[in-house]
Amino acid sequence: MLDREETATAAFAMVGLPARGKTYVARRVARYLSWLGHPTRVFNIGAYRREKYGAYQPHEFFDPDNPVGHGALLELAMLALDDMLSWLAEQPGRVGIYDATNSTRERRRIVRDRCKKAGMPLVFIESICNDPAVIDANVRETKISSPDYRFMEAEDAMRDFRSRIAHYERAYEPISDTSKSYIKIIDVGRQVVLNRIHGYLPARLAPLLINLHVAPRPIYLTRHGESMANGEGTLGGDSDLTPRGEAYARSLARFISSAGPEGRVTVWTSRLKRTDQTAAPLGRRTRAWRALDEIDAGICDGKTYNECKAAMPDEWAARARDKFHYRYPRGESYEDVIQRLDPVVIELERQRDPVLVIGHQAVLRMLYAYLMDKPPQECTRVSIPLHTVIQLTPTAYGCEERRFQLDPQLPVEIATRASG
Ligand code: F6P
Repeated sequence: MLDREETATAAFAMVGLPARGKTYVARRVARYLSWLGHPTRVFNIGAYRREKYGAYQPHEFFDPDNPVGHGALLELAMLALDDMLSWLAEQPGRVGIYDATNSTRERRRIVRDRCKKAGMPLVFIESICNDPAVIDANVRETKISSPDYRFMEAEDAMRDFRSRIAHYERAYEPISDTSKSYIKIIDVGRQVVLNRIHGYLPARLAPLLINLHVAPRPIYLTRHGESMANGEGTLGGDSDLTPRGEAYARSLARFISSAGPEGRVTVWTSRLKRTDQTAAPLGRRTRAWRALDEIDAGICDGKTYNECKAAMPDEWAARARDKFHYRYPRGESYEDVIQRLDPVVIELERQRDPVLVIGHQAVLRMLYAYLMDKPPQECTRVSIPLHTVIQLTPTAYGCEERRFQLDPQLPVEIATRASG
């Protein structure tokens, strides 16, 4: 369980013009904090608008001089804000992210006052981007395909959305009051400003926000090739690969060299021999992380599941009841594994080249949960078979998954799915 001092409730409110990546940042922050164990929810005003008024509204609706549109948007904004504050009040330790433009001083004053009245600490996160190419790419990738424009030709939709942006531009007042708490992200992380940021949670976001980028690149997850311990069915240890495991290592090297430009794949292993031996045929420099070592099975290390169950039936029953929180005596829980994987995740976010992570069953389950935005509690039994490469490619709001089974010889694609 998280320590009591780590359960601070907090509210964040996005700020910025349309198509500046606010929803992208909001969702990434939510994914990260949820994975770290802080229940986090995004309250997106666009979703409220679509529910109340239907998907498409012409750009005139967003004109600040149109009293009808302005009043309707203000009402929706307050509804979403009140929903967030009620949800936060239900249980301590929750984090709410208010995903709206909040692009004028007056609007931010209202948001601040309501949060203050509810006793909720608030930090604004402003996303500023002035690069027309980035803005256009964002509009094409996330707006044109959104329900707002489902029935419109792409170029008409682009034109309408640009007009919508122009309405907001006329009224936009970037955050300038340095007496308040805010984070500014400028040009997708080129510069990140933290102003009057105090406390554990907002500070914990800084490494993530500094490293976020939108360059598409695959992340490959694989367990090491079959080890002696796998053959014997024992937990943990630091055994060598079996001949079958060595054959997998060679197939993996072939797969990676055929998957993309040679030399561009960064390879990470744990500090255990079986991952290093799996990386060897790749013939390239690797980074060995202790943080990627398999879950520490404590007093069960070196035993089979059956031996553990027979010697410690109560322990085994406790693990079956709550595998995520269960901590092996003198070892770790899945929840502990997440905390030590935090720097790995931040470094994964930073990388712009493809990354191959050669790891172990439990650690890969928790990385998979993060990348696929799934509750980690539900991933302690996710299938991460031996001799299979899981290719995860981040997309605008999710991740595309492909699985390749490399045993015995040729890569075979066995599954494709997407999150987000
Ligand atoms: O059996 C291989 C292994 O990597 C063990 O070393 C580890 O304890 C186990 O998988 C983790 O999986 P589970 O949590 O399902 O026991």
